[in-house]
Amino acid sequence: METVVSGIRPTGNLHLGNYFGALRNFIQMQNEHNCFFFIADYHSLTTHPTPHDLHGNVKQVLVEYLAAGLDPEKATLYIQSDVPETAELYLFLNMNAYIGELERCTSFKDKIRQQPQNVNAGLLTYPTLMAADIILHKATKVPVGKDQEQHLEMTRQFSNRFNRMYNVEYFPEPQAFNFGQALVKIPGLNGTGKMGKSEGEGNAIFLADEPAAIRKKVMKAVTDAGPTEPNQTKPEVIENIFQLMRVVSAPETVQNFDEQYNNCQIRYGDMKKQLAEDMVAFTAPFRERINELLSDEAYISKVARMGKEKAQASASKTIREVREIIGFKSF
Ligand code: TRP
Repeated sequence: METVVSGIRPTGNLHLGNYFGALRNFIQMQNEHNCFFFIADYHSLTTHPTPHDLHGNVKQVLVEYLAAGLDPEKATLYIQSDVPETAELYLFLNMNAYIGELERCTSFKDKIRQQPQNVNAGLLTYPTLMAADIILHKATKVPVGKDQEQHLEMTRQFSNRFNRMYNVEYFPEPQAFNFGQALVKIPGLNGTGKMGKSEGEGNAIFLADEPAAIRKKVMKAVTDAGPTEPNQTKPEVIENIFQLMRVVSAPETVQNFDEQYNNCQIRYGDMKKQLAEDMVAFTAPFRERINELLSDEAYISKVARMGKEKAQASASKTIREVREIIGFKSF
C-alpha cells in the first residue's frame, strides 16, 4: 500500500473530462491506498480571490468531489488551510529552496507572462508549498498530469536536500502515479479536441449542468456536411461526437449511428438529440447529489472536520519529527 497525496485546485464545476480523467482514478485509488486528497486553498491565494469567492469555491469543489464518489471514510479528504502544519513545513523548505531554481520553473515563467502585474512571492514559491503538501504525509505516489511533473521533480530535489543537509533518511522520494491506459480522452463540443473549462464557450459538459444547458451545448456541437462515400474514415470533429457517445450511451446506440454513418444515412441532428438525452441521464445523479449536498451544511462540516482530524494526525507527527531533526527542541 502506497501513501498517495494529491491537491485539488478550488475551481468548481467539474466536467466530464475531469470525471473520466483524474477523478475516476482517485475513486479507484481510495480503495487500494492510503490516500490524502486536499483542496489547495493556500495555493489559490496567489491570485488574490475575495473571501466570498474563496469560501464558495472550496465548498463547491468539496461537494462536487463527494458527489462524484470520493469517500471521506476511505480517503482523507481535507482542506489545506485546515492543516497549518503545511505552512510550517513550507517555511522550512523555503530556507533551502534557491531563487534560481524557483525562477527557472516553467509554471512560474508562465505566470509572469499571464499576470505581470501580480508576480508575488507565493507564485515563486508555489513549488515549495506543493512539496510541503506532498512530503507532509511522506507520500510515495502523487497522481498528477504531465503539467505537474516538473513540480514533482522539484519536490524530490527538496526532500533529498533536506535528508542530505541533516544526514537523515527521513523523507521518501515521491513518484508520479502513472495511470497509463486508464485515462480516457474526452473531447470537447466545439471542435477544439479536448474538453476543458478554458477551451471556450459551450465546450464542456459540467456535472452540475441543468438538462436545458446540456441540450443546448450538445445541439451546437461542431459537425460537418456528412459522409459522401460508404465506410469513410471519420474526420476528427465527428469522431469526437462518437467518442462522447461511447462514454455515455449504450453500445447499441453507438453501433446504430456508426452503421448509419457507414452507409451515409446519418443525420447529425438526430445523433446529437440522442447524445444530449444520454448526457442528461448520465449526469442526472451527479447533479442531484451536488444539489442535495450543497444544502446539507451539517454533512459538509462533518466531512471537513473528519478530514482535518485525520490529516492533522499525520501532519503533526511529521512536523514533530522534522522540528527535532532541525534542532528545535523544547527546553
Ligand atoms: N499544482 C497542482 C495543480 O495545479 C495542485 C496541487 C497543489 C497538488 N499541491 C499538490 C497536486 C500536491 C499534487 C500534490 O493541479
